[in-house]
Amino acid sequence: MKVFLKIGSAVLFALFLITATSCSRNTTPPSKATAAPNKSANPFQGKPEAIQEGQNMYRSYCSGCHGGSGHGGKCPDLTDDLWIHGGADEEVFLTINKGVSGTEMRNFEVGLKPEEIWKLIAYIRSIAAAGGESAWKPFEDGDAAHGKALFSDAKGQAQCYRCHMVLGEGGRIGPDLSRIGAKRTPDYILESIVKPSADIVDGYLQFTVTTKNGTETIGYKKNEDNFTMQLISTEDELVSLEKSDIASVSTNKNSVMVEGLEKLLSKKELHDIMAYLKTLNGKPASK
Ligand code: HEC
Ligand code: HEC
Repeated sequence: MKVFLKIGSAVLFALFLITATSCSRNTTPPSKATAAPNKSANPFQGKPEAIQEGQNMYRSYCSGCHGGSGHGGKCPDLTDDLWIHGGADEEVFLTINKGVSGTEMRNFEVGLKPEEIWKLIAYIRSIAAAGGESAWKPFEDGDAAHGKALFSDAKGQAQCYRCHMVLGEGGRIGPDLSRIGAKRTPDYILESIVKPSADIVDGYLQFTVTTKNGTETIGYKKNEDNFTMQLISTEDELVSLEKSDIASVSTNKNSVMVEGLEKLLSKKELHDIMAYLKTLNGKPASK
């Protein structure tokens, strides 16, 4: 094993020499595989040039989802101290390298070299919020257990569970919220509740289809081919329509999710529900 490693690094060193000769800058040879002198596993930590490169890459590859300033939006905030997949350098590296399967977070090992990922991390660290600051702050006083009860109360005002599934229980009209705390920023979640139509989750855009004989079906598009269109109606039924019978199709700008839920709930109740949603990371509750 040791022998292979030695050969490996000799080859790498040779490669380095080849590339180094084509480069006019005066570079020092790569250091041997000794432990990094500082605590960080990131060789580019705090290096201004690398941070700049990291920022450029961030703008090309990441800002579309994680926001221009790293504060997230639809996707997790990378500046707070809440790390669903671990906040240590190696863990963040792994998340970016391998992605999170089953989510929009892809594996950037395809396309980015390890050192580029480290530069990205150096940039992400440079925009981190001051220690201990968390975007969840305003909701930290919420009572998650009470929030859960409100969420699933059949007689209550919120009735979230009627439309949302959490770990296999609940309705299917809205998206599954089992991982909502891991996926979205608090601001985005709050906006989803208070202004549901502001940004409609992919696949939840509603269509109104009117047939030639005047019947109207409202629902999500499940499938479409040259001859038919299948909708999941707001009553959660599968409706198949012949295209030759369709008179018009329009999209609705409004979410199926009730507007003004926050008026039915007190501020305290809203915070409790937020606190509950924060705990949803796809894993069963630890209590
Ligand atoms: C298409 C959208 C998208 C793009 C582009 C994207 N991400 Fe992500 N990223 C996500 C989503 C969604 C998650 C949350 C995954 C989950 O549900 O656990 C995530 C999670 C992460 C996490 C883990 C956060 C945590 O709390 O542990 C890191 C770190 C991360 N992304 C970094 C990056 C970097 C760096 C880039 C650019 C190279 C990038 N992402 C590009 C969507 C994206
Ligand atoms: C009548 C059905 C219905 C009810 C009741 C309902 N929702 Fe929704 N919800 C939806 C639909 C449909 C969407 C997806 C469309 C959109 O983005 O607005 C959604 C989206 C969301 C999202 C965004 C999900 C994401 O992946 O970004 C959150 C968070 C959410 N709802 C939370 C709640 C909470 C909390 C309650 C209870 C206070 C609730 N909902 C009650 C139907 C409902």
